[in-house]
Amino acid sequence: MNNFEFKNPTKIIFGKDTISKLSEELPTDARVLILYGGGSIKKNGIYDQVKTALKDISHVEFGGIPANPEYSVLMKALKVIKEESITYLLAVGGGSVIDGTKFLSSAALYEGDSPWDILKDSKRTEVGMPFGTVLTLPATGSEMNSGAVITNAETKEKLGMGGPGLFPQFSILDPQVIQSIPQRQLVNGITDAFTHVLEQYMTYPAAALLQDRFAESIMQTLLEVAPTILKDSTDYNAASNFMWSCTMALNGLIQKGVPTDWAVHAMGHELTALYGIDHARTLAIIAPSHYQYNFEAKKEKLAQYAERVWNITEGSIDDKAYAAIEKTESFFNQMGIETKLSKYTDDFDGTAEIIAKRFTERGWLGLGEHKSLKPEDVEHIVHMAY
Ligand code: NZQ
Ligand code: ZN
Repeated sequence: MNNFEFKNPTKIIFGKDTISKLSEELPTDARVLILYGGGSIKKNGIYDQVKTALKDISHVEFGGIPANPEYSVLMKALKVIKEESITYLLAVGGGSVIDGTKFLSSAALYEGDSPWDILKDSKRTEVGMPFGTVLTLPATGSEMNSGAVITNAETKEKLGMGGPGLFPQFSILDPQVIQSIPQRQLVNGITDAFTHVLEQYMTYPAAALLQDRFAESIMQTLLEVAPTILKDSTDYNAASNFMWSCTMALNGLIQKGVPTDWAVHAMGHELTALYGIDHARTLAIIAPSHYQYNFEAKKEKLAQYAERVWNITEGSIDDKAYAAIEKTESFFNQMGIETKLSKYTDDFDGTAEIIAKRFTERGWLGLGEHKSLKPEDVEHIVHMAY
């Protein structure tokens, strides 16, 4: 096991009807900006619950943060923060609203020329404006981590940011919120969380027995609850296990002391930036090709995953490892997710070359757990995913 340090300061308030506890978490003298997305919270009652909970706290609102939070929209929110002397941010939404709020937390205290530099120059945020979240969509884990991904439509870029100053102070997780989530987004959430675990697990054995079993148990739980969630999102037991699995998949715990990959996400973000494909679907496009291309380096963990998660006990290590890749792809397909780029756009010619060029220009010359995946390897993998 590798050495590690672990600190996660986010307070989780989990369970039925917990949005009413919101006011207990906010400083009484706070001037709050509520941030939300395209309006789903106004239809499903979450907005009303938040407003009731904030009745004695000074606040204003900013809605309209789109999926894949857009820089130009966030810059309008930043103006509100300054004009309204905001002291506390409250994200009410999924990963996009929470990530947008993290950007604003950082940008609100940023003293440089342009807040885009926080992303472009990968500046770590040590201190941000304090914020909390009310999670409305289990998927990203953003509610309990310190990372964010922001899109710039003008330059067709999607870049990450983070730092110890960007953990939410608290996150309210009421599993009942999933009842209004469209099927497409539920499937995205399952796929994103599942792939988060893969990124932190599908590397090489590191004698981290407990981390491996944490990872396997999250994947097993997602596989177990997925059919129920997709059939009946009012099933509270399934909803609560789904929600907590998504949070646990990316709150830092399972990656401690082990090598991690994250190349699937790096490539996937480019597909969202170029074609607007939902984040989770980009992962399902890239992951099977990535594991096939890096088969030799990953086959021991692939075989362990095959045995422990998919109950594949017959055959050699290679046989099991191949079967595990197939099982993973068909799991995505069975939920209705296409795993080839050509199913999403007719205009895919040259995509692999564009992505490889972007990585070269950014100096991303060695991705993956061995830092050995070069832009030409990336080009191969994306080609395989056509
Ligand atoms: O905008 P509204 O109207 O709220 O609708 C949203 C949006 O259209 C809707 N929705 C959310 N909760 C709902 C609901 N509809 C009905 N009922 C509810 N309770 O769902 C749609 C998608 O929302 P979004 O927030 O975009 O989805 P998700 O949570 O999957 O977030 C995706 C974003 O997070 C980033 C992705 O790159 C992407 O930009 N990620 C963030 C990570 C992190 N911070 O750790 C890690 C991930 O790997 C990922 O990169
Ligand atoms: Zn993801």
